[in-house]
Amino acid sequence: MVGSDTSPMEPIGTGPSGDARAAIEDFYVEERTFPPPASFGAGALATTRELYDAAEADLEGFWAKQAESLVDWFEPWERVLVWDPPFAKWFEGGKLNVSYNCLDRHLREGRGDRVAYYFEGEPGDRRVITYAELAVEVNRFANVLKDLGVNKGDKVAVYMGMIPELPVAILACARIGAPHSVVFGGFSSKALESRILDAEAKVVVTADGSWRRGNPVRLKEGVDAALENTPSVEHVVVVRRIGEEGGVQVSMKPGRDLWWHDLMASAGTECAPELMDSEDLLYLLYTSGTTARPKGIMHTTGGYLTQVAFTHKYVFDLHPETDVYWCAADIGWVTGHSYIVYGPLANGATSVLYEGTPDYPDKDRWWDIIERYKVTILYCAPTGIRTFMKWGTVYPEKHDLSSLRVLGSVGEPINPEAWIWYYEHIGGSRCPVVDTWWQTETGSIMVSPLPGLSVLKPGSAVEALPGVRGEVVDDEGRVLTRGGGYFTLTHPWPAMLRGIYGDPERYKETYWTRFPGRYFAGDGAKVDGDGYIWFIGRVDDVMNVSGHRVSTTEVESALVDHPSVAEAAVVGANDPTTGQAIVAFVTLRSGEEKAGARGEELRAHVAMRIGPIARPKTIIFTDELPKTRSGKIMRRLLRDVADGHDLGDTTTLADPEVVDQIRTMAEERLFAED
Ligand code: PRX
Repeated sequence: MVGSDTSPMEPIGTGPSGDARAAIEDFYVEERTFPPPASFGAGALATTRELYDAAEADLEGFWAKQAESLVDWFEPWERVLVWDPPFAKWFEGGKLNVSYNCLDRHLREGRGDRVAYYFEGEPGDRRVITYAELAVEVNRFANVLKDLGVNKGDKVAVYMGMIPELPVAILACARIGAPHSVVFGGFSSKALESRILDAEAKVVVTADGSWRRGNPVRLKEGVDAALENTPSVEHVVVVRRIGEEGGVQVSMKPGRDLWWHDLMASAGTECAPELMDSEDLLYLLYTSGTTARPKGIMHTTGGYLTQVAFTHKYVFDLHPETDVYWCAADIGWVTGHSYIVYGPLANGATSVLYEGTPDYPDKDRWWDIIERYKVTILYCAPTGIRTFMKWGTVYPEKHDLSSLRVLGSVGEPINPEAWIWYYEHIGGSRCPVVDTWWQTETGSIMVSPLPGLSVLKPGSAVEALPGVRGEVVDDEGRVLTRGGGYFTLTHPWPAMLRGIYGDPERYKETYWTRFPGRYFAGDGAKVDGDGYIWFIGRVDDVMNVSGHRVSTTEVESALVDHPSVAEAAVVGANDPTTGQAIVAFVTLRSGEEKAGARGEELRAHVAMRIGPIARPKTIIFTDELPKTRSGKIMRRLLRDVADGHDLGDTTTLADPEVVDQIRTMAEERLFAED
C-alpha cells in the first residue's frame, strides 16, 4: 500500500522563515506520478515552462499579451492594472464586447459553419447549432430585450434548464450591456426571489419547465411564486421547452408574460454590439451559502474574458478545429458560465450541451454521448466520478471512449482513488487528468496542471497557473514551503471578482482580512516536498481530534482508497474525550455488504493508511450522501446528524430522503463504534 509505512506523527516541514508551522496536519501520502503520455506531448500547446517564465518575469506584460492575442478590442486599454487594494481594474479604458468576441469575430474570420453546440435534450431530441446560427439567435434575442425596454446596465434574471436558449439569453445580455444574473434552475422560488430582489432585475427569462429524469421541473411556476414580491420585474419571457403535450401548462399573466417564440419570430436579426468598458459589469452570480445571505459576486468584462479564454485554451489543450469539448456542469454555476459559455465560445470551440441527468434513461447516458459525438475533452466534478464508481465499470465499458484525450475535474478535492478510476476506466490510461481549483469568486481556473507538461499526482492540483500567484500560509500568514495550511493569492488576477454587489465592506471583510494583503476564501491546502499543491477542503471542514487538526478530505481519501468504498463524507462530532471524534458516512460500491465487520475493516484501513489518530470513531453506512444541487456534500447537516441535533431546513438538498435515511440509521445506530 502506497505510503502505508509513513509514520503519521512525522514532524511537518517548515517554511523559509523558519518559524512557519503547519496549520493543518498532513497525513495522507500519495506517491504515484504520471508524466504526460508520450502520445500526448508532441502536439500539445504547452510543453515547456515558457508561459510560467514569461509571467514570472512580467506579470502585467504577460496578461497584456494574452488580452491582445485572445480578445478583440474596439479600443485599446490605457493601463493594464490599477490596483487599489482590494479593488482591481484590468485593462483600464479598453473597449470591447463579449458577445462580439464569442460570435461575430468567428463569422468574420470564416468560422461561421463550425459547430458551437451539439445540443442533446434529455428525452433524446438533438440540435446542431453552428456559430452562424447561434449569432442569429443572439442578435434576435438582443433586439427582443431592447424592445422590452432593457437598457445598458439593467439587470436580467435567467432561470432555466440546460437548453440552447440559455446561452442565447446570456450572450444577448452581454451584447446589449445588460448584466445577467443566472439562477440555477434547481433552486427554489425563494432563492430566485431573493436574487431578483438583490439585483433589482427588470426582466426574467425562463422556460415552462426542464426535463429531469423523465419528469418536467416546472420552472415558470417557480417564477410566478417569486414574482409576487419582486416589484422591479416588468416582463417574463418564457421558452416553451416541455409544452402541454409534456404535461406542463403555464398561466401567462397578460401584459407581463410573453412567449419566447412569439417575440423571436418578429425580431430583427441584427443588433449592433454595445461598446463596453473593460470594467463594465458582465454578470452577477450568487454564491449559494447554506446558511448566510447569498453574495452577488460581480464579474466584469475585459479581464474576465481574457483569463477564461486563456485557461480554457491551455488547461484543456484546446485545438478548436478538431476537439469536441464537453463540460458537464450546469450553466447555473460559475463552471458553466466560464467553461460552457464564455471560454469555449471565445476560443471558437465545439461543445456538447446536455440537458439532463447521467442516469436517464440508463446509467450509461454520458458514455453514450461521448461515443456518439466523439468527445475529446471531458470536464466534470468528483461527485460525478464517485457516483460512476459506485455504479461500476460495466456502464463505461459498453461504449467506445477512445476519442477522449483530456479529462478535467472541478468543484471539490478529488480523492486519489477516484482520480485513478477516472484515469483508467474513462481515460483508458492515456488521458491526462487536470484537477482544476478555482471558485465563483476567482472567475477562472487558478491552480491546475497543464496536460502536455505537468507530471501528475492523483489528488493534487499541482501548481498555480502562469499569471497566478498563490501561496500556502500558516495561522500567522507565514509562507509554508511544506505542510498544511491556508491557500492564499498574493496578486490580483484579471478574472477576479470585483466585489459583492451592493456591499463593498462585506467583500473586504470576507476575503481580505484574515491574512492582510492576501486573498483568502476558506480553502485548506498542503504543499508537498516537490512543491505540489493539494487542496484539502474548506477550513471549516477541519476537525480537531485530541489537539490534532485533521482534514476531512484526507480521511475521506483513505476511506475511498479501500476497494469496497465508493464515497465517503467525514465530519467531526463533539466528543467529551477527544474534543472532536471522527464520524464517517460511507457509501459502498454496488454489490458490497454493509455487515458490521466491514465497519471495523474500514476503521483499520484508515488507521493503516494515515495513522491511528485519524481512525473514525464511528462509521455510518448509507446508500447516498446528502448533497447540495451543485454536488457538494452537506457537511453541516452531517455534523448535525452526528451530533444528534435537529436538522433544520434541508430544501437545498438533491434528495431530502437521504437525510431521513441517514437520520434513521443514526438513530438506530446501525454502525460500527468504538
Ligand atoms: O473549496 C473549493 C472547492 O469549491 C470551492 C468553490 O466553489 P464554487 O464557488 O461553487 O465553485 C466551484 C467551481 C469552480 C472552492 O473554494 N473546489 C473547487 N475546485 C476544487 C475545489 N477543491 C479542491 N480541488 C478542486 N479542484
